[in-house]
Amino acid sequence: MNGLVKNRILITGSNGMLGQRTVQFYSSRDNVELLATSVEEKSFIDSVEYISSDIKNRDSIKKLIHDYCPDFIVHTAAFTNVDLSEKLREDAWKINVKGVEYIAEAARAIDAHIIHISTDYIFDGKDGPYDENAIPDPVGYYGRTKLASENTLRISGTFFTILRTNVLYGIAPNSRPDFVRWVLNSLRNNEQIRIVKDQINNPTFIDDLVQGINKIVEFRKTGVYNIGGQEFLSRLDFTNRIADFFKLNKKLIQPITTEELKQPARRPLKSGLLILKSETELGYKPHTITESLAAMRKELNL
Ligand SMILES: NC(=O)c1ccc[n+]([C@@H]2O[C@H](COP(=O)([O-])OP(=O)(O)OC[C@H]3O[C@@H](n4cnc5c(N)ncnc54)[C@H](OP(=O)(O)O)[C@@H]3O)[C@@H](O)[C@H]2O)c1
Repeated sequence: MNGLVKNRILITGSNGMLGQRTVQFYSSRDNVELLATSVEEKSFIDSVEYISSDIKNRDSIKKLIHDYCPDFIVHTAAFTNVDLSEKLREDAWKINVKGVEYIAEAARAIDAHIIHISTDYIFDGKDGPYDENAIPDPVGYYGRTKLASENTLRISGTFFTILRTNVLYGIAPNSRPDFVRWVLNSLRNNEQIRIVKDQINNPTFIDDLVQGINKIVEFRKTGVYNIGGQEFLSRLDFTNRIADFFKLNKKLIQPITTEELKQPARRPLKSGLLILKSETELGYKPHTITESLAAMRKELNL
């Protein structure tokens, strides 16, 4: 018998884009005991312990957390459809705010540490990029629910860390394609794509966010940390970088403005997240876009 002290980690939203990748990362670590949970009946990833649970159901999530008694709850489950959030406000609120309240309530009783994922959509996008102390002012309902979820944690009396991130990209095999794969598939199929030139962010490679989550587990840091990519650029420039890297036809990319796109939800335009605090306090080191695309190409066997 070895004396290895194992962290017990519960991952919510384990069938989602970030959730799957986080489960994959921890499933290969022998210093971690893992329980995955999401709404679906089955896990998209075999070989992990999985229990289906709806975070809107207070009793169900409370029982799950108290039975498993995790050291950390990596909370990736959320209502993430920004446009639909405008229409299905009650659903978005129940999942993004009440869900966090129920998880925090259960976590407090067992001293579990919640690692919560938030977003730059809590800002208005007038003068980004933003540091951890910038004043939030969301322009859409999704951002309002995510800000409320942060505030729920602040008053909950639980140990918590808020990791704010933006424009996640990378591979999660069983979920909807991320932005990079959407661009890749569309251009390969000779489809024209309309891309906004006035939304600026620092896109985040999912594996870098998983690295950020793991830094929190290692150092047990609480508070707010921004986790983003190294490079700040418009969505149009990001798309051109993807097309250049995979040698795709850039003539299919049509630049437009956010206003022309007429999406139901408003977006922060000049946004993005400054990552200096994570770099200095956590030793967080994100990949460059080129390095991330190269890792994706390798994994996709392209
Ligand atoms: N993707 C981005 O660009 C981005 C940017 C900034 C922040 N974030 C934040 O990062 C986190 C992860 O995002 P993601 O892109 O990985 O999201 P995702 O792919 O949409 O995954 C979210 C997961 O949560 C599950 N879920 C939804 N409602 C639930 C409920 N009531 N009970 C239990 N599980 C539920 C979803 O299941 P179903 O699919 O079956 O509904 C899905 O598996 C979220 O907190 C999001 O707000 C994401």
